[in-house]
Amino acid sequence: MSDRGDALVAGASGGIGAALVAGFLADPRIERVFAVSRSQAPPVALASRPGLVWICCDYNEASMQQVRDQIQALHPTLLRVALCHGVLHGDQLAPEKRLEDIDAVSLQTVFTANAIVPVLWLKVLRKLLSHARHCKVAVLSARVGSIGDNHLGGWYAYRASKAALNMLLKTAAIEYSRRSANVKLLSFHPGTTDTPLSKPFQSSVAADKLFTPDFVASQLIALMTAADIDGQLTFIDWNGQSIDW
Ligand SMILES: NC(=O)c1ccc[n+]([C@@H]2O[C@H](COP(=O)([O-])OP(=O)(O)OC[C@H]3O[C@@H](n4cnc5c(N)ncnc54)[C@H](OP(=O)(O)O)[C@@H]3O)[C@@H](O)[C@H]2O)c1
Repeated sequence: MSDRGDALVAGASGGIGAALVAGFLADPRIERVFAVSRSQAPPVALASRPGLVWICCDYNEASMQQVRDQIQALHPTLLRVALCHGVLHGDQLAPEKRLEDIDAVSLQTVFTANAIVPVLWLKVLRKLLSHARHCKVAVLSARVGSIGDNHLGGWYAYRASKAALNMLLKTAAIEYSRRSANVKLLSFHPGTTDTPLSKPFQSSVAADKLFTPDFVASQLIALMTAADIDGQLTFIDWNGQSIDW
């Protein structure tokens, strides 16, 4: 049996998602990378790379099931999964500075992308991830989702969606440990990374604290490789340090 296996990256056209796709494609342990995105085609830098399987999805549950079926038909052994969805701002969306800024539609938009879509992947993919090999699943979270670490306030929707994500992941980790014990779940804070998500908020970040997506991807790939299969959810940052819940 080959030691090699496959990786899946969802949210593959984002800054960190695309860097993870490139990182997994360069990893000799990885044979194919299934890259799932709302975009029809990969970014130019990834196009025509051997081993890349690009799949378009609008992230409603039925589409996610179709993606799962499409991947399943290719008989994968998924060793790595990275869920990179995240929304912080947009045309009709800005992080709230005070209670008066809270808007129900914005809350729903942010919760859907940041918490609901990732846990639906854990639902839809569970059987596909259950196999004889170890499988490491990283979900992109954020330190601002830590309740204990919230000293500044603000950013209601983003903070709360990431806290909700962490609870959903913790609960899923308990169930996976019973039903799919070969799987390890990680909730990952990348640090401030130079992507469209952080662009409007980078002016106050010191140059040496603003990471490139490639650096963050290489850190996460190494942390996934090192993670033990222990049935627990680990909440860690780019440097492997634990984060308070
Ligand atoms: N950049 C930072 O400083 C920073 C800091 C802390 C945490 N994070 C987290 O890191 C993750 C990746 O973010 P990024 O910095 O790479 O941002 P990004 O470049 O803006 O990428 C955002 C990603 O979210 C997906 N997405 C966007 N809208 C969505 C929606 N409505 N429903 C589902 N998915 C949606 C996109 O997937 P498609 O491929 O489908 O377009 C894309 O992969 C996020 O979870 C973010 O919260 C980032």
